[in-house]
Amino acid sequence: MKIALGSDHGGINIKNAVIKYLEENNIEYKDFGCYDDSSVDYPVYAYKTAKEVSDGNYDLGILCCGTGIGISMAANKVKGIRAAVVSDEFSAEMTRRHNNANILCMGGRVIDEEQAIKLAKIFINTPFDVEERHLKRLKMIDEIEKGTFVL
Ligand code: RB5
Repeated sequence: MKIALGSDHGGINIKNAVIKYLEENNIEYKDFGCYDDSSVDYPVYAYKTAKEVSDGNYDLGILCCGTGIGISMAANKVKGIRAAVVSDEFSAEMTRRHNNANILCMGGRVIDEEQAIKLAKIFINTPFDVEERHLKRLKMIDEIEKGTFVL
């Protein structure tokens, strides 16, 4: 399991907490920035990280900004990315099981470091439920992305 991480200044605190958890558990990762709390633009780090996941270089991604929202919006513009903003345990599990989300987005001004680690752990360890109904809906999302979706 290889994890790509990114954040802006608003999410660097929880990203660093998750990195500490990954290191302690020998989970392979790369941090695509930012690397300090100077004000930066979250789309840059969303793109860098999401592109790595989209290209298949990493299994999953974790992105953090102040709310998790802006960075998820930017990540979801990258082909093949299903980024989910999560702040509770149930959603962290279900977005893997039902949506096969490949990027977890969290807000450093929404949740604390302990909760970020808890959610990252659930996200990383929960597999997709490979069931017809979920596959069908994910295919629809792909078609919307490709512009081939027909109602
Ligand atoms: C940065 O101040 C803040 O706008 C950003 O971290 C994020 O919350 C945007 O969605």
